[in-house]
Amino acid sequence: MSSLHEKALQVLKNNWKNGFTIPCEGLYPFQWNWDSGFIAIGWAHVEMEWAKQEIRSLLSGQWKNGFIPHIVFHNDSDTYFPGPEVHAAHLSDQSPKVKTSGITQPPVMGFVLEALYQISEQDPKFLPFLEEVYDAVFLNHHYFYTHRDPAQEGLVYICHNWEAGTDNTPVWDFIWETFEVPDYNLDRRDTKLVDASHRPTNKEYQYYIHLIELFKQWKYDDALIAQKSPFLVQDPLFNSMLIASNQSLIRLGELLGRTDKVSQLRAWNERAVTAMNSKLYDSQQKGYVYYDLRNERKLAFLSSSSFTPLFANIPSAERANDMMTHFRGGAFSGTNHENYLCASFDPSSVHFNSEKYWRGPIWINLNWLIYRGLLAYGFQDEADQIKRDTLGFIEKYGFYEYFEPSKEMNKTLTKGYGGNNFSWSAALTIDLLTNKP
Ligand code: SER
Repeated sequence: MSSLHEKALQVLKNNWKNGFTIPCEGLYPFQWNWDSGFIAIGWAHVEMEWAKQEIRSLLSGQWKNGFIPHIVFHNDSDTYFPGPEVHAAHLSDQSPKVKTSGITQPPVMGFVLEALYQISEQDPKFLPFLEEVYDAVFLNHHYFYTHRDPAQEGLVYICHNWEAGTDNTPVWDFIWETFEVPDYNLDRRDTKLVDASHRPTNKEYQYYIHLIELFKQWKYDDALIAQKSPFLVQDPLFNSMLIASNQSLIRLGELLGRTDKVSQLRAWNERAVTAMNSKLYDSQQKGYVYYDLRNERKLAFLSSSSFTPLFANIPSAERANDMMTHFRGGAFSGTNHENYLCASFDPSSVHFNSEKYWRGPIWINLNWLIYRGLLAYGFQDEADQIKRDTLGFIEKYGFYEYFEPSKEMNKTLTKGYGGNNFSWSAALTIDLLTNKP
């Protein structure tokens, strides 16, 4: 085991709370949905039982209708805002006994299950675990396609920026300008724990909290949310994760003999891929973009999310090749390759901010998804480059939450951005060092 691998494992061990892994001490002290998926991939390389336990713990927060929340509050902590009393998920008649939030996150669990099975080297001893959790993950997909796609287009919506995972991407600025919010009393803890200039602003948090207040008034009723929420967006990352997970559940379902579920997944998936390609691809931008369902308009901005359809086998080979413009002397690489890959927002945009959370910095999970996507399409040079850039950050600075894209600025930096000892940065480092997809 290399020393980087050992250090990564130590981060995971320190964040393991006997049954689940927190993303980061202090800053994120509970169990987060998509974090757990990436973390389980890391655990699978060293301690498969803990990977399984990670997933079981997340699923203990699943709602009766199949919804999986973005946070499960197994424990108490006073270092995070907004906690369980703000989310008040008990207002929904669908919520479970354990405290959870009432919003979700990108649905990674289907492809995570398949990744674990591959890491086990298709060990028949892994199948009972798949049998145990398969139906719960299928039910989550059923929830999305029956509650989050009102026009039955094949694309599901998100109703909160925290559901996107990309919390404060500049794309949401254009949603915030469509409605007013009252002044809420914010009891933020994040800005006391890490450099506040790297976090979303208080004004943005007013919008985040306002949406949760609305959902609580509506008792988290999906029909009311679809009808009234001022934030209702078809997001390229979220839908790509669901599609990649559909495809994994199809393959795993065939293995387990779940014939009816496989047919249902195939039908959802076919419609979803078609809709992604017809509605969310922007040929001028040469990437997948966002659709604002509430205001019926395309938000044609490029972000690292724009490249994640490569991970889910969505674009044709020709279209995928067009998308490479951005990495071959285009905005994301810099015209003279001045940037490391892959900034979380278009570096040529006036809204780009290389230090602020999802407005520009590089994130390890997005790099991992794009790396896998590039390999799947045979873009070996770009795949090598993004892997080299990713591991380069970790080697130089450690397991930070996000990183500076500009090569020039990195010459004088001594740290990454946001939280340190961040679990998915460690987990995916283990995968990049170990796995040869
Ligand atoms: N990422 C969000 C936060 O910063 C929660 O999902 O609190």
